[in-house]
Amino acid sequence: MIHLFLIDADRCPQYETLRLWPVVQGLPKKASATTCCIPYNGEMVPIPVGTRMVADVVAIHRHQGVWGQDSSEWNPGRWLTSDGKIRRPSKGEFLAFSEGARACIGKKFAETEFKGIMCCLFENYKVKMHIGSNKEDVLLTQEEAREQALKSMNFLKYRLALSLARRIPLDWTQRS
Ligand code: HEM
Repeated sequence: MIHLFLIDADRCPQYETLRLWPVVQGLPKKASATTCCIPYNGEMVPIPVGTRMVADVVAIHRHQGVWGQDSSEWNPGRWLTSDGKIRRPSKGEFLAFSEGARACIGKKFAETEFKGIMCCLFENYKVKMHIGSNKEDVLLTQEEAREQALKSMNFLKYRLALSLARRIPLDWTQRS
């Protein structure tokens, strides 16, 4: 029996993963009705009507001014406040599902789906790095395999959505 508790902490791994590896990396926008202004370096910069812009989601999500010195590290704990609640980033700081009128309408669905998949996997399995022979037939320790996997996470390709360009072997063991 799987229970999907809607507690805040469940969302940390998903948000942290989408922060570092957002599925949608650039959000194309067009200034439409009136000239608007966006804050930049303490000034308001006017954006004329018709200007096309792309918000660089990766750069925003890894900005040290927002996410701290360790902004490139995967640390789901950064999403929890001291009283155990989920961190609510300020406007424009976390754009994995975009924001505003055209934000993702499937966000809740995706969050629930992620939770369901994690519950199904980890209720029955535990996972560790596969340390068998790699391509060069060199045996790896768990730590080496983990480091290699982290490096592989920087070899990504962008098609319709972000995907891995290298295989990361894992061993799944049925829980007793
Ligand atoms: C991790 C999963 C998902 C991520 C990261 C995601 C992300 C996004 C983002 C960034 C946008 C805005 C795109 C833009 O402005 O160019 C968007 C829009 C949209 N998403 Fe998602 N999405 C996810 C899952 C889903 C699911 C599961 C559904 C449907 C069940 C969905 C339906 C939509 C729709 C219909 C829009 C267009 C909304 C509009 O233009 O008004 N998404 N999504």
